[in-house]
Amino acid sequence: MADYSQLGSEAQACIAAAGDLAAIEALRVEYLGKQGSVSALLKTLGAMSPEERQSEGPKIHALREAVTSALAARKDELESAGLAAQLASETLDLTLPAPETPRGSVHPVSQVMDELAEIFADLGFAVATGPEIEDDWYNFTALNMPESHPARAMHDTFYFPTEPGTNGRTLLRTHTSPVQVRTMMAEGAPLRIIAPGRVYRSDSDATHTPMFHQVEGLVIDRDIHLGHLKWTLETFLKAFFERDDIVLRLRPSYFPFTEPSVEVDVGFALENGRRVLGGSGDAPGHGWMELLGSGMVNRRVLEFSGLDPDQWQGFAFGVGVDRLAMLKYGMDDLRAFFDGDVRWLKHYGFSFLDQPTLSAGVGARP
Ligand code: PHE
Repeated sequence: MADYSQLGSEAQACIAAAGDLAAIEALRVEYLGKQGSVSALLKTLGAMSPEERQSEGPKIHALREAVTSALAARKDELESAGLAAQLASETLDLTLPAPETPRGSVHPVSQVMDELAEIFADLGFAVATGPEIEDDWYNFTALNMPESHPARAMHDTFYFPTEPGTNGRTLLRTHTSPVQVRTMMAEGAPLRIIAPGRVYRSDSDATHTPMFHQVEGLVIDRDIHLGHLKWTLETFLKAFFERDDIVLRLRPSYFPFTEPSVEVDVGFALENGRRVLGGSGDAPGHGWMELLGSGMVNRRVLEFSGLDPDQWQGFAFGVGVDRLAMLKYGMDDLRAFFDGDVRWLKHYGFSFLDQPTLSAGVGARP
């Protein structure tokens, strides 16, 4: 009679010593696999006499049972130890500070538009808007630029095909001035508005992009004169640049929609090769920089807009928002404004928590 207790206790010891699930699997193959030692014993039963089989069979089956259950028990042990280790290592410490969520930033154009709205709201101006796809009539004709007027050439833009039955060509507006006409027609007089928005021209280099931003200003009342224009611009630019020493120079100019027309320059000093606004442009080491166009609203524009020019008059101005942003916050390439490069935005962008207010200073600290 063979004795299987040696094989049995050896197997028990190996199984108990198995350190991981892979070792258990290797032992299962070693004993119970096709070539396994216990499987080999089972195969010997076939060649035995009935008496022998009767005495050996139960012992061999018992051995197989014992090995099978020892493997299962050790496997269970290892699995629950693994789960316990995982639970221990993955505990959440709820007292830890939360990971920082990535935050976007406010684009300088949006920031400056908010600053402008804040400054002009304080002066009693409402914000008006108009469409970027504009009629020829609002963009040109009503602003005293009839078909074939030479001033149209300076406003080359993007035209849409003329739809039959519509009122002339549509185009991407070349300035925010059509909002003057639209607002006067919709609301009449008196009026005090600014109209910030996107405008388009077929221009492209470091200081011109095919799309840029302007803010239009318009004041209509019974006895508005050039003095009001000058005071308003001075007050606005001092608040915007946060300097009391902003000096303006008004130069005669020409726009079809204003009469007289005034080009406004601002004095700057050269500091380390950079232009810093402030002081008279005539002072030594200083210069004048052209900043915006303005003037008294042309009588013809008032007429086109449905106002009686003998009762109402006013001033208008238009200034580039991107240019204001560059001057205030020190960017030098206009194209970067519209590249959508997140690194640029990280550098020049502003916190959305930094709301411009007159009391706390309209300027943001990047
Ligand atoms: N619309 C003019 C431009 O884009 C600027 C302007 C506005 C001039 C209002 C005078 C009055 O060049």
